Amino acid sequence: MAHQLLAGKKGIIFGALNEESIAWKIAEKAHEQGAQFVLSNAPVAMRMGAIQGLGEKTGAEVIPADATKMEDLDKLFAQAEEKLGGKLDFILHSIGMSVNVRKGKHYTELNHDWLAKGWDVSAASFHKVMQTAWKRDSMNEWGSILALTYIAAQRTFPDYNDMADNKAYLESIARSFGYHWGTRKKVRVNTISQSPTPTTAGSGVKGFDAFINYAEKMSPLGNATADDCADYAVSLFSDYTRRVTMQNLYHDGGFSHTGVSEAIIEQFGQ
Ligand SMILES: NC(=O)c1ccc[n+]([C@@H]2O[C@H](COP(=O)([O-])OP(=O)(O)OC[C@H]3O[C@@H](n4cnc5c(N)ncnc54)[C@H](O)[C@@H]3O)[C@@H](O)[C@H]2O)c1
Repeated sequence: MAHQLLAGKKGIIFGALNEESIAWKIAEKAHEQGAQFVLSNAPVAMRMGAIQGLGEKTGAEVIPADATKMEDLDKLFAQAEEKLGGKLDFILHSIGMSVNVRKGKHYTELNHDWLAKGWDVSAASFHKVMQTAWKRDSMNEWGSILALTYIAAQRTFPDYNDMADNKAYLESIARSFGYHWGTRKKVRVNTISQSPTPTTAGSGVKGFDAFINYAEKMSPLGNATADDCADYAVSLFSDYTRRVTMQNLYHDGGFSHTGVSEAIIEQFGQ
């Protein structure tokens, strides 16, 4: 499927940790479609080394930045614009982490310092990334900014814990900042609400395997994979979606609009 949909487009991709990462698949497909980009991740993720291989494969420079630190982001954007030789057409925010989830804290017992840290990494960082691009005037007109989210922002999934609240905040930032980007620069801002996907972040959620099977049975088209998500992201970075903005876009095989499926009914039958 090499249509060169992103020929001439430049961007920054945050969040490729390993081959399972959604951002990894998006980087591969964006490269296939002709995009040039810089890869970024937290300095601690660099030590794992895998991202360097992706950089070589996609011809991308890898620049570390903690997405919660404005000084890191400012340096990253300056270097990215220099390496890519101009302003950006797209940004992918594929970042999430909850200390409470990691440490198995129940929602009713949340540690609020950990909550603040997870909120900063998972939600406020999206504002920080966009504020950096805004102040530097880093985006070209008709650019596209995208973040990854999950339906726990709208409906309760108990084991998703405080990430549910972080995602609700993230989606709200997409709408609030999306307004300003639209009026000032004709840049669009959206979130993709993705099916459960087996990645490092995803698998950290308690009961993930059972949950992914349940979602598969509840989705008329089956769960959307990370590869499917990458195709969707490419379309959202392309010129074919220029007036889609401030949306939370479900990419979940129909899960979000299914009350119950025959497969689930059968399982509960006599
Ligand atoms: N896996 C799923 O089931 C699923 C479903 C819907 C949405 N999402 C979302 O997709 C996005 C990507 O997650 P993934 O599933 O590919 O897992 P992943 O673990 O591969 O990616 C999460 C990334 O966040 C990065 N990160 C953490 N702290 C950071 C910081 N301070 N600065 C910069 N980067 C930091 C990690 O290094 C990692 O690369 C997340 O927003 C996640 O919530 C995942």
